[in-house]
Amino acid sequence: MSDEHSHGLMNEVLVALLGYTGGLVVETEDSFRVAPENFLAEGEKQMLEKILKVGYLAKKLHDFSSSLRREHLAGGDTPGHYAYAMALRVEDVLEKFRLKVVELEEEIAENPKLQLVDMLAKFQEDSFVLSALHQMMMQVSSRELRGAALLDAMWQTMSRAGGSTLQHCLAWQLEGPGRVFVNQLTAWMVYGRLIDPENEFFIQRCDGQSLQTEGSHGEDLSQPMGPSEAQREWHRLFMLRREAVPKLLSLDTARQVLFTGKAVRVLLRRGFAPPPPERVQDEVDTLRSCFSMKRPSYVLHRSILALRNAVAGRLQDLLREAQLREHLEILKGFYLLGYGAFYQTLLDLPQHALPQRGAGPRGTSSLPSMLRDSWEKALTEHMESSSKGVLDPNALRLQLVPRALDLHSFDARKVKVMAGARVDKGMILLPAHSMAWLQNKVRISGSFQHAFSFQLRPADPTTTSSASRPGEYGARLALCFQPRWSPQDLQKRRHLERGAEEIPEPLEIWKCLGESLTLELQYCVLRSLPQRERMAEVTLQLFSAGASGVSSELCACNFQVPDVDQMIHMVRLWYDSEKMELQVFFGADAVAPSAKACVDLGDMAHLEMGCSYVGFSSLPLEHGREREALRIVTWRHQCRDRLDFDDTSDRNFEDLTLTYQVPWPLPLIVTQSCLERYNRLFQHLLTYRHATMRLQHLQPDADDEERGRLAAALKAQLCFFWTQVLQFFLQDVVEASHQKLLEVVTSSSSFDEVVAAHEEFLSNVTTHFFLEHRELRKELTAALRIAEVFRRAVETAALSGKEMRRLQHDFAETVRSFSGIMLSINRTGNVKMPLLVQLSGRLDFNNYFSGETDTKRAQSWWQKYGSADG
Ligand SMILES: *[C@@H]1O[C@H](CO)[C@@H](O)[C@H](O)[C@H]1NC(C)=O
Ligand SMILES: *[C@@H]1O[C@H](CO)[C@@H](O)[C@H](O)[C@H]1NC(C)=O
Repeated sequence: MSDEHSHGLMNEVLVALLGYTGGLVVETEDSFRVAPENFLAEGEKQMLEKILKVGYLAKKLHDFSSSLRREHLAGGDTPGHYAYAMALRVEDVLEKFRLKVVELEEEIAENPKLQLVDMLAKFQEDSFVLSALHQMMMQVSSRELRGAALLDAMWQTMSRAGGSTLQHCLAWQLEGPGRVFVNQLTAWMVYGRLIDPENEFFIQRCDGQSLQTEGSHGEDLSQPMGPSEAQREWHRLFMLRREAVPKLLSLDTARQVLFTGKAVRVLLRRGFAPPPPERVQDEVDTLRSCFSMKRPSYVLHRSILALRNAVAGRLQDLLREAQLREHLEILKGFYLLGYGAFYQTLLDLPQHALPQRGAGPRGTSSLPSMLRDSWEKALTEHMESSSKGVLDPNALRLQLVPRALDLHSFDARKVKVMAGARVDKGMILLPAHSMAWLQNKVRISGSFQHAFSFQLRPADPTTTSSASRPGEYGARLALCFQPRWSPQDLQKRRHLERGAEEIPEPLEIWKCLGESLTLELQYCVLRSLPQRERMAEVTLQLFSAGASGVSSELCACNFQVPDVDQMIHMVRLWYDSEKMELQVFFGADAVAPSAKACVDLGDMAHLEMGCSYVGFSSLPLEHGREREALRIVTWRHQCRDRLDFDDTSDRNFEDLTLTYQVPWPLPLIVTQSCLERYNRLFQHLLTYRHATMRLQHLQPDADDEERGRLAAALKAQLCFFWTQVLQFFLQDVVEASHQKLLEVVTSSSSFDEVVAAHEEFLSNVTTHFFLEHRELRKELTAALRIAEVFRRAVETAALSGKEMRRLQHDFAETVRSFSGIMLSINRTGNVKMPLLVQLSGRLDFNNYFSGETDTKRAQSWWQKYGSADG
């Protein structure tokens, strides 16, 4: 080859390396090639094409990165910040490569003897690097990778790459999008802010509030929030998007990230400084550089935990300042009957003052009035005697919320009718624009079934010849659950908002209810067909409204049913709180749901201790359709998590709910579900305590000497048993476990430890109340029933001596089998009920039952304790 040729060749190559073809080099679909007419030997040509490949890759990479950058800046459906960061880094690599080409040009000018083979050697490494980048780029663009997926793909490419230069370069590439990720991570974990305009981060905000507003100015986190808003923010506003968590992070670590940001927001809103910057800064620096380290996954995990723990420590300070300890004492005092004098006063009631089982709603004030008065009295006494000042008596409320109610016949005590609705022959008549609400709340915090049946009737079949007129007729109705407004409130509201003449549409009332769930039902019949062939068109629509009141449609469906004159239609709603699924069935015998939607009622339930008001509103029909009178025939609500009290005892406390509005931020520990567990314990304790008190007040009649003696003995035995059981619950279980809990609260500097201790406390107490032990609970219930039968018998003097003996025998059997179960639990060494041995000790069963069926020993036991309490 002549020098001239050689010079020209080198120039062509240099130009091609910079991405320009022409002359000797042509671009094909997937490479740069030497043009067919050339003067090269085969060996030279091959070598040349190897060099040209580098140029081709550089050109493709450049095209790719510039198109990414263009799209990114154009806005709209963009490839995202991660991809943009990657493009910038690709450009950097290319820039360096181009510099190298320029340097080479100078070198050639100085040393024209440079050979192709030297050149190839110089670009060997670039060839590796650029082809790895090119592969990655192909992957990104063909699969449209963004966010975490992009990060993962780059991470994998890098881990698989051999050769330190290549790996180094790929790591440097990864650092680009890695920085974006780390910036999002630190903005969230240190400042409580989501900076994610392109929806790439694994934490998302659920209220749909656009994140652009967050990024530039940011919301004002120094503003305090109301307790319910704050709770909503904590529980619902931010969610983890699992699919957006990069594989570098375990799901658990991702959850810690979510927690940390939320906690920082809580701290900031309370004017509580998050952990000081100097403590945080090291971790942030480590995070920033993690992608240039050997094991970024490990570094990420460690720094995230460190940040999280620092924040959790601050959170614990905040809780301590908010007097967590004192509030836990209050919870124990009221829910777990720690305030003995309080309950002495409260339960000192005549029998008829107690709620009756299955009685359903009893009037406007849900508590029986004597119980309410007694509650007020006990609370006043309590406030006078305790000088703590932490308890806000208004935060505490006792309500009666039936777990089940079944209404077949309506009256004003059960249903509040308004705006023209009325009760007629035991049914609710709903003309257009009217409303009817249940006076009592229903429980919606767990799974439940709600059902109603309705009937459509021509307004007045005798006067109008409506049956012969063409057109359509029907009715439209909404069933609404909402926790905020009582029926009385709603009625006042209507008066307030009513203009001079017109009554606002019920529809408008729905809209201003705030959080709610509404089922809208439209029933329309085409009149033109003969009666027998008539079909009704049914439309069901489910709406849910958030705090702002803006409702969104969850689902809708449309179907036809035969319209038989005066037929009663049943509509059922099934809510599954685990799956958060609501199903609507139309027709009493429907097995498949007509409509189905995912909805989280927990959000709404959480406002009012899991309870909600529920009511009907009759809505206007579409224009041109005639509205007929609608009657509600039955109305039913049933929780699926009934307590297992004995069904034969006619009074108990299972429908009583104690509400305590724990001030924010304590609900971080004492969550809604904790309060529900407290309530369950409360209902059991109250039942036992009440039974014991009534036994103690009992005065057996001494007229009949034998019967009197028997009654006195049985009373003593029952009293002894129940006193000991109660003391076991209150002292051995509650008091001891609570002490342990308080020790943790006082000594721990970690939020998580406190949460765990509180959970453990509740679960230990639940276990030792035998709520999870079927057999023990069964025996306790039997003992409770015997006490009830005995009490009634004494009060009415209804039992003969023989029957009294029989009752005594039953009781002895019950106690025997109760203790037998306890012994066998002890024998198998059940580690879950370590405190049980104390109950055995209290009842002294070891002594008693070691003699097996020795009646003498049994008698001596009865004698010993028969006199212990008398
Ligand atoms: C709960 O029970 C376990 C043993 O079952 C015990 O180790 C722990 O201290 C108890 N915790 C509380 C708070 O009572
Ligand atoms: C019950 O358990 C306690 C302690 O675990 C033990 O001391 C006692 O002997 C046991 N009683 C029986 C009857 O097994």
